[in-house]
Amino acid sequence: MKSKEFFSCVECGHQHHKWQGRCVGCNEWGTLPDKPVGVSPFVEGLHLVPLASVDQAQSIPVPTTVEEIDRVLGGGFVPGSVSLLSGEPGIGKSTLTLQLALRIARTGASVVLITGEEAPAQVAARAGRIHNRPIPESLSVFDTTDTKMVVKMMREQRPQMVIVDSVQMLNNGDEGGAAGSPALLRNVANLLAETAKKCDVSLLLIGHVTKDGGLAGPRTLEHIVDTVLSFDGDRRNDLRFLRAVKHRFGPTSEAGVFEMVGTGLKAVKDPSAHFLADRNPRLAGSAVVPVLDGRRPLMVEIQALVRKGAEKPSLTAHGLPSGRLNLVHSVGHEKMPNNLSGLDALVSVAGGAKINDPGADLAMLVAMVSAAREVPVPASLASCAEIGLSGELRRVSTMERRLAETQRLGFTDCIVAPSCPDGPTGLRLHRCETVIDAVEVLMGVTV
Ligand code: TYD
Ligand code: MG
Repeated sequence: MKSKEFFSCVECGHQHHKWQGRCVGCNEWGTLPDKPVGVSPFVEGLHLVPLASVDQAQSIPVPTTVEEIDRVLGGGFVPGSVSLLSGEPGIGKSTLTLQLALRIARTGASVVLITGEEAPAQVAARAGRIHNRPIPESLSVFDTTDTKMVVKMMREQRPQMVIVDSVQMLNNGDEGGAAGSPALLRNVANLLAETAKKCDVSLLLIGHVTKDGGLAGPRTLEHIVDTVLSFDGDRRNDLRFLRAVKHRFGPTSEAGVFEMVGTGLKAVKDPSAHFLADRNPRLAGSAVVPVLDGRRPLMVEIQALVRKGAEKPSLTAHGLPSGRLNLVHSVGHEKMPNNLSGLDALVSVAGGAKINDPGADLAMLVAMVSAAREVPVPASLASCAEIGLSGELRRVSTMERRLAETQRLGFTDCIVAPSCPDGPTGLRLHRCETVIDAVEVLMGVTV
């Protein structure tokens, strides 16, 4: 049988036997490559391999020795794997990857930085600033924007790790699409990924995204790569979060926390302590809750500011889902009319953390009631429960770990839902059925 070639749509993967301008799978124009690819899996050459005989050792990660990165990756980078680090311009991607490159090179492994975006002298100056010892010999820079040269280098040098800063800077001669187009980006990424896999190189592509996560870029690369890391943080402060949003070789739930300082990014070893460092328990409108970030419990401070508003309250949330604030405020308004009625509220998470955890419902309410009554929450009291529409408190997941963190940070009391399991000794639990009971505990008086 004659082997067949086909044209696979880069958007939806639909296969066509002849080239055409529009894909019949997704109706997009110009998404078929100029040249046909591969041999259809349904014709000759079909070769099945028993899964049991596949070498498992291939996906063993090699530690980077940067603890926060290894935590997020579940051990390190897997040889021959392709990762994408995406984030807004200026957030610290080049800094993070330069530190990573320096650390990996210190173990003797060869690392090549493709510096399409910055001049090698600039990179060397930054390396000098963030690394107060001699720069390891095994770290090289390659100043090019030509994908073919990067491919050639990988084939000939076979470094352990190649970092491309940034993938948007690369071109591919006259092939693969117009400069800056998604088609070119995919073409470049595919070429590099294929070479990395063949040569057993760990490849890390850096991609810029805009605030809304858009840009003709990184999003369209997500299905090409094995791992997508996102690096973000609030511009108003120096904290940065590294998360795996897709990971073929491990968990996607661990976050790495860093702080941008004068000498680069510093790991934040105890994020809870960091978030609570400037809390002033003598002020009203502040409540503390153990939330979950991935699998790690984090103590955060929720702050509320309230003031007399119009009939329909105006609610603003920073670092919290506004839908959740609406729900909590509505329930509070219905069940405890003399606390929150007629008040506008601004609720925010201190320190620039972003949380999305129903366990923070009760702390939002506690912070708002404390602000409305101008009564501070006792310094050693935390709270953690979801609020239901009838005003009932509901238990959230992983309470044991949350309570352990609460006690570790020095809290002695925590308001929780009735079904909450026992916490560590030394932490008094106040099991409350409704928001009214919770506010009673908070005030020590009946509402
Ligand atoms: P950069 O890594 O260049 O961001 P990206 O590659 O994501 O565009 O870092 C951007 C900012 O980080 C820059 O505005 C200055 C700041 N920075 C520090 O505060 N301390 C440092 O040691 C370094 C290297 C950068
Ligand atoms: Mg950069």
